[in-house]
Amino acid sequence: MADVMILAAGLGTRMKSRRAKVLHELAGRPLISYGTRAALRTLPETLLVIVGHQAEEVERAVREEAERRPARTELRFCLQADQRGTGHAVMSARNWLRERTGQLVVIAGDVPMIKSETLAELVRTHTSQRNDATVLTVMMDDPTGYGRIIRDGERLYVRSVEQRDATPEELAVREINVSIYCFEIAPLVAALDRLTTDNAQAEYYLTDVPEIMLKSGGRVGIFPHGDPDEVKGINTRVELAELERVLRERKLHDLMLSGVTIVDPASTYIHQDVEIGPDTVVHPQVTIEGASRIGSGCTIRSWTRLRNVSIGEAVTIGDSCVIEETSIRDGARVGPFARLRMQADIGEGAVIGNFVEVKKSQIGRGTKAQHLSYLGDATLGENVNIGAGTVTCNYDGKRKHQTHIEDDVKIGSDTMLVAPVRVGRGSVTGAGAVVTHDLPPDSLAVGVPATVKKKLK
Ligand code: UD1
Ligand code: CA
Repeated sequence: MADVMILAAGLGTRMKSRRAKVLHELAGRPLISYGTRAALRTLPETLLVIVGHQAEEVERAVREEAERRPARTELRFCLQADQRGTGHAVMSARNWLRERTGQLVVIAGDVPMIKSETLAELVRTHTSQRNDATVLTVMMDDPTGYGRIIRDGERLYVRSVEQRDATPEELAVREINVSIYCFEIAPLVAALDRLTTDNAQAEYYLTDVPEIMLKSGGRVGIFPHGDPDEVKGINTRVELAELERVLRERKLHDLMLSGVTIVDPASTYIHQDVEIGPDTVVHPQVTIEGASRIGSGCTIRSWTRLRNVSIGEAVTIGDSCVIEETSIRDGARVGPFARLRMQADIGEGAVIGNFVEVKKSQIGRGTKAQHLSYLGDATLGENVNIGAGTVTCNYDGKRKHQTHIEDDVKIGSDTMLVAPVRVGRGSVTGAGAVVTHDLPPDSLAVGVPATVKKKLK
């Protein structure tokens, strides 16, 4: 398809933020990632992003999105060091444009709901009408702030006028410019050379390009679009929050229709990329973020937050858990009040109970840690029982060390496992033991430091 250019160099003054507007998050993803995704779905040969404010971070966000769906599109970034308008943004890619032919779709970076189908249709219309520029427009009930589309007596394109440059008559026009265009590259470059800053904001307006083309005998068409919500730009935090609500409601609606019970949609927050299987029940006040995948028949109770988790089938997550970057296998039970993080891996049918923290650890099948424990940098085998108050002492003040607990071990309450340490299969530790050395299989170890009292077999 045609090449695509995204304009994303601006700060976004109306956000009243030090952070570039396109980096603000919408449903857990930076704004720029939405336009990037839509653009990549049209399979352009090149996606060129104009960056300026926080260029490196914007570039990173675009690359991250591109890596999620690898395609053959070449990514390019062009720096617009000072931002002198949307026309100036395109000008900053002039050297690259001079070497290209064919069509270029230009979209603003702050139009997150734009669909790839719309972009593809814009290009089809542009091509079939043999236009030099095709301007996507929409009717807005309240067009305040947008550029207005001025047509002539025959309804043909005349120009696009910014709010601040418009006459009262022009301000009454409800058809607006949404900052999405398709251009033939050669006449675009010629028109850019003729842009001026003769306007209220003393900027180079991209909106002037089609008019310049018309005046030099080019063809300009209009692509009227039916859905204002899809092409709305985000300029303020109020608009951002409004769109967040719309996206959230849509996601919950889709999940419910696909068989997920959402007990109270008004208090449930689920990000766009989350997948949940049928017959899973999500109780009120739950937040599920990132690329989380949850199987079917699970129960997620209230005040729990999940981020980038992978959860199997028939898993129960109790109230008030915070779980990040973790996988939980079929039939496991977690919480209430559990904290799992950094590649924790909870085995099939395992139980992680109240006030237990698991960090970067594998918990084997059927293993239980029911109360008040810290398991960090540890590997636990199958059917292990961890007594209340057990701690893997994984940090010696300088480095982290590993704890290994083999199958069928019973760790007595309040045991301290001073890593690096290994507890052999079938061993038992007494309450309050401080284990500083490896225990061979089937040992009963007690005391401080723990010593082996007897062999159990
Ligand atoms: C622009 C249009 C307006 C249209 C509206 C639709 C112009 C002059 N006006 O206005 O007609 O109704 O979009 O949302 O084009 N950008 C740069 N470099 C710059 C300036 C802007 O990269 O020098 C980028 C911004 O980061 C942003 C996009 O271009 O992603 C649009 O800029 P913005 O300032 O939001 O334009 P609007 O004032 O909304
Ligand atoms: Ca805008």
